[in-house]
Amino acid sequence: MKKYILLFTILFLSCKSNEKTIEPTGIVTSKAMVVSAREEASKIGVEILKKGGNAFDAMVATELALAVSHPQAGNIGGGGFMVYRKANGETGALDYREKAPQSASKDMFLDANKNVIEGKSTETALASGVPGTIAGVFEVHQKFGSLPISEILKPVIALAERGVVVTQYQANDLSKYRASFIKANGPNSLFSKVYKVGDTIKYTALAQTLKRISKNGKKEFYQGETAQKLVTFIAKKGGIFSLSDLEKYQAKWRNPITFNYKDLKITSMSPPSSGGICLNQIMKMIEPYHLAEMGHNSQKAIQVITEAERRAYADRNYFLGDPDFVKLPIKELQDSTYLKNRMADFSFDKATKSAVLAHGTIQGYESKQTTHYSIVDAEGNAVSVTTTLNDNFGSKIYCDELGFFLNNQMDDFSAKAGVANLYGLTGSEANSIAPEKRMLSSMSPTIVEKNGKLFMVVGTPGGSTIITSVLQSILNVYEFNLSMQEAVNAPRFHHQWLPDEIVFEPNSFSKSLLKDLKMKGYTINEKHSEIIGEVDAILVLPNGKLEGGADKRGDNNASGY
Ligand code: GLY
Repeated sequence: MKKYILLFTILFLSCKSNEKTIEPTGIVTSKAMVVSAREEASKIGVEILKKGGNAFDAMVATELALAVSHPQAGNIGGGGFMVYRKANGETGALDYREKAPQSASKDMFLDANKNVIEGKSTETALASGVPGTIAGVFEVHQKFGSLPISEILKPVIALAERGVVVTQYQANDLSKYRASFIKANGPNSLFSKVYKVGDTIKYTALAQTLKRISKNGKKEFYQGETAQKLVTFIAKKGGIFSLSDLEKYQAKWRNPITFNYKDLKITSMSPPSSGGICLNQIMKMIEPYHLAEMGHNSQKAIQVITEAERRAYADRNYFLGDPDFVKLPIKELQDSTYLKNRMADFSFDKATKSAVLAHGTIQGYESKQTTHYSIVDAEGNAVSVTTTLNDNFGSKIYCDELGFFLNNQMDDFSAKAGVANLYGLTGSEANSIAPEKRMLSSMSPTIVEKNGKLFMVVGTPGGSTIITSVLQSILNVYEFNLSMQEAVNAPRFHHQWLPDEIVFEPNSFSKSLLKDLKMKGYTINEKHSEIIGEVDAILVLPNGKLEGGADKRGDNNASGY
């Protein structure tokens, strides 16, 4: 008997030693945390939590504080998605994605020869979908909020009036886009001016708009003075969304995508985002491989992940679109036999070529400029939100009277089947333009549970790279034992089927690794983008404390108490 007890003890200890204790390297707090793209927004979220608000009140505050402090992606002129997990384990998702106006049409971005007119879906007033953000925050507040909306908006309005200091990252961005702002809005618009690091930009017009919203509620934006002014402005700029489009807009509660990866349970966004389904497909395809043994960012691990990504994006581009308009094979795309068969032709010897890999065959069945924030409150409620204007500063068209940028989300539709959008993503009929349809997204606000308990809240901007950045952040912690902050900072790579290349963050991967991958037939692109994603995440540590992962690639900040 003693012998068995000894054997059991040795076995137990050796198992435990595999579960390496990971030392946090990010900000650690005891109770609650907000991680977002700007310190001002994280701090306002935390202020609301300290006042007794819950994660949902903090969501409203953080979302709108980002509209003030991070105007390149934070918005009231765009839309987004929220995934939540309440402390009691209940999960859900809210879709406040923009919609095509009622007078939108399938070929609206094509010329007489049916070719895509360059810039029409990105740089004109026609590029704007009907904004969903204000409907989204009021929907969240109505269902789960605990503090009055006026109290939540108070610090946001004060921030807009006080102004926000320009950081180095922001100064670079404002200078990069200044010519576009002048082209879109003339020389006297707020963002047409020159700003340098340390300047304070006051958002007086936005403060007025937010005050009216605080007083009159959601209808201010969709029917009131703000709606009237917005529609007049859009028409003057050559856009087509009308008062009736605004009046009809509704945010929608959706069932999130939920799946298991080993002992993790992952909850992520459902269509009209492709995020949850793609993440599920990729994670199920890589699950049989022993990534931890292969090593973090090792050649073999990169091959397995790349090949799974290639196959998932090929499916994404063909099958996915707005579920209110097209029948989506959601169940079939997540079927374990289907996914096993998708990887059947993968070999470590040679890259699969995207040219010979199409979407899968489904029996019976005939697509950085965003921002993400993660919140955990003292009760354990978790909120994961990704919101966007699409491109940086959206269409660049800024309504000075109301104080916000208009999105260019119409570019996320497939303007013409097979022609790439801003992110190089191609699409099919499933994601073609139709009146009142929502454009397909890659946004992947995600919540991970381990052994039935909250484990991680994670998400990122980055267009088509959102899904693969979320994937790598989860794997970096779970498979490769990095702390949350290390996982977020670690170099990233990305494959999206077409173009058939692996994009690597420049100067982050060894030359010999890249050379070996080339030898296997992979095309390497280190120049496409300087960074891939800007992840903002929270990890629940074994002692119940929270570690923030605020991406070093921007002004991201973790705050809490
Ligand atoms: N506009 C980026 C996305 O929704 O995926």
